[in-house]
Amino acid sequence: MEHLDAYIPFDRRLSISHNTPLPDKTTGTVLFADISGFISLTAALAHELGPQRGAEELNHQLNRVYGALIDEVHRYHGSVIGFNGDAISCWFDQDDGFLGTACAFAMQETMRRFETIPISSTNTVSMHIKVAVVQGSVSRFIVGHPDIQLIDVLAGRLLDRMETAGRQLEKGEIIVGEEIVEQFGDHLKTKEWRTAENGERLAVVQSLEIPVPQKKWPEIPPLAPEEIEPWFLKPVFQRLKQGQGRFLSDLRLVVPVFVSFTGIDYDSDPAANDKLNQIVLWVQKILSHYDGHLIQFSMGDIGSYFMIVFGAPVAHEDDSVRAIEAASELISPPPELHFMREVKIGISRGQVHTGAHGGEARSTYGICGEVVSLSARLMSKAEQGQILATSSVVEMADHAYEFKKLGPAKLKGFADPAVLYAVNEKRSEAISGILGTKIKSPLIGRATEREWLMNALQELENGTTHVALIEGEAGIGKSRLMIELFQHYNPEKIVGLSGSGNAVEVTTAYSAWRTVFTQLFDEEISHSHRLNTSETKGDWESAVDKIMHDEPDQIQLAPLLNVVLPLAIPENDLTIEMTGALRAFNTHNLLVKLLKRAANNKPLLIVIEDAHWLDSASWQLLSRVSQEVTPILLVAVTRPMSRPPLEYSQLLKLPHHKLIQLDKLELEAIEALICAQLGVDDLPSQVSSFVHERASGNPFFSEELAFALRDNGFLQIVEKKVEIKHPGDLQSIEFPDTIQEVITSRIDQLSAPLQLSLKIASIIGRVFDISILQGIHPAEPDKEALADQLATLCEADLMRIETPLPEPTYFFKHIITQEVAYRVDA
Ligand SMILES: Nc1ncnc2c1ncn2[C@@H]1O[C@H](COP(=O)(O)OP(=O)(O)OP(=O)(O)O)[C@@H](O)[C@H]1O
Ligand SMILES: [Mg+2]
Repeated sequence: MEHLDAYIPFDRRLSISHNTPLPDKTTGTVLFADISGFISLTAALAHELGPQRGAEELNHQLNRVYGALIDEVHRYHGSVIGFNGDAISCWFDQDDGFLGTACAFAMQETMRRFETIPISSTNTVSMHIKVAVVQGSVSRFIVGHPDIQLIDVLAGRLLDRMETAGRQLEKGEIIVGEEIVEQFGDHLKTKEWRTAENGERLAVVQSLEIPVPQKKWPEIPPLAPEEIEPWFLKPVFQRLKQGQGRFLSDLRLVVPVFVSFTGIDYDSDPAANDKLNQIVLWVQKILSHYDGHLIQFSMGDIGSYFMIVFGAPVAHEDDSVRAIEAASELISPPPELHFMREVKIGISRGQVHTGAHGGEARSTYGICGEVVSLSARLMSKAEQGQILATSSVVEMADHAYEFKKLGPAKLKGFADPAVLYAVNEKRSEAISGILGTKIKSPLIGRATEREWLMNALQELENGTTHVALIEGEAGIGKSRLMIELFQHYNPEKIVGLSGSGNAVEVTTAYSAWRTVFTQLFDEEISHSHRLNTSETKGDWESAVDKIMHDEPDQIQLAPLLNVVLPLAIPENDLTIEMTGALRAFNTHNLLVKLLKRAANNKPLLIVIEDAHWLDSASWQLLSRVSQEVTPILLVAVTRPMSRPPLEYSQLLKLPHHKLIQLDKLELEAIEALICAQLGVDDLPSQVSSFVHERASGNPFFSEELAFALRDNGFLQIVEKKVEIKHPGDLQSIEFPDTIQEVITSRIDQLSAPLQLSLKIASIIGRVFDISILQGIHPAEPDKEALADQLATLCEADLMRIETPLPEPTYFFKHIITQEVAYRVDA
């Protein structure tokens, strides 16, 4: 086990160990220390050592500095309560200002050791610290759900004063409140007085001329694991518990979300702590639905904010959409949280450095990067009730949401003005999916598959039913093939409908069928849908009348349609009694009946995309439709699944089924694809073979790599011709963000031991044999266990067996997977 206790503030640790709670209201000193120079250090290290080693070295330097500073805090009986980017806030309980101020001077002295950090023989970076100290009373309490994370909070006006003082600080300064100058009298030498915007007077001080003895904490025995666990985010705890803390350190693409609000008066409202706890529980619940994480927060009377992140410690390929969905819920608190006011949200997206920050004595799971401050700036620019996003978020989410483009805005701390977008509505389900996709290039290759589908369409017009399963890895071209299918059916003769599984809604019943039925009954429900007044009686009634017109005996069952239609039909005496299996049975029957009727009218083409994310009710319905509805061309599209559901094998047993497995594209097809995407006539062979080798014939990876080559200036396009700018440097290009996102999200879904083995293997190379892996594996697994793990990685389609005998050799299916896995600090 690593130093897990260090994730809890020292005074809280002591209180847990002695079983004596800390008082809710207390007095003392807060100290805010801001370290400057991290950004230049990050840039210099990345430049000198490359992104990966640069990140490792940064983590090392960061922890050296933090470690030394935190030791000073503990020497003066202080506790580090929160980490905010490159700043820490500390609490000195019962201190009248002496310990806190002396600590500020000691920290400044310690920091001199880091004034010049050598980067190379010619380059150094300097780091400085600025410290603000104020004294008074605060609220101190715990919020959060123990199953998600407990958080130690320091709140009240003193925290606002701390922030005000912090804003007055300039490089290398110590600034203190007036009350501290009064305490020390002549012993504290003041250099200058400053008046903050709110009229508060603060003193910049230069020396302390009486000795303040250090006051160390007593030793405390380590806490039991069950006492510590509630203080951690689950994925972080799992890694740390298995001694894999260093793997938390990573360069990642994330979507930070900052949420600010007001409305709690910690100093005079006795219910303040409880109100904050209610808010935090609500936020945690929303985030656990979208698998985002609350990383830190700061609480003052004037304004409090949450820093949330999507993409770390666990990534998903749709993190931007998840962030916006969560933000859309957070922006309007429910009636029971009426006291939460003036909510504003900022979202951006970019690379950050994540890791266990701090030292042995106190650490946190932290996220550092410019993009974090960018989200914070957007939050402060937003109006009440507004969500602002950057173009990098919009790019990833505009298929799901509508945005309003605002003018470029100057943001404090950023040289270039940023174009901002306000999040508007979610796009209507009826046009999302295949129908809403823009195509970028003609279909290349896939002749056999295309022919089968076109033929099936033709036969469908004549009343013949087919059920197809399309299978292939992410980005191989499944959706592209479906677009082709949708472009070629004749709407006069066939009704085309599509739905899709969704990574967030894996447990929402019938999620994939919602769009199918919404498209099918678009006309019938359009009135109530458009007016968005589905609660009003007349609207849903007229829609139900139209949908059920020829089945009056079924009308009682109409409320069951709520799971697939945006109608909110009130339950009646019959349906309210239906629960569990009975309800599911009746719902399936009704939905199948409606589809049968539709197919009788006109043959149906139904495509269910991303079936690997289908909920079980959607699978069941899919299975029934495949057996009972005719004439139909039903296509289920999925990535390979390591544990396919029962219904999947049922589909494969149907006499009229067809399994289409999409594999990589050949070199010529990839060349044609890149030419089409770049708008050129042909491609230097060096480029096509480079892309082909790295992307292994995957069209999505190939396209993204080609765009990255162009956008990073490796290729120049003049009059439909490609010129290679720096032939020798081609190898040095990094994999684009979009690819990394897909791969990281897949790695993050694996269990911790599998991740570890994957990472160790990536150090060896793209091809490795099991003995070498076993030899360097820190967990020292036996060969059998390792072979099992590798088999699972092969099933997950990340690896392949190269030679099974005499001793198995494996290889990473994509170089990209190896490189992304390798990027972590191993
Ligand atoms: N045969 C092809 N011809 C032209 N473009 C293609 C072809 N195959 C794939 N592409 C392009 O490659 C990219 C990825 O393809 P697509 O989205 O269809 O992958 P997918 O298999 O559906 O992946 P996922 O599992 O992530 O949904 C798209 O931009 C698509 O247009
Ligand atoms: Mg797809």
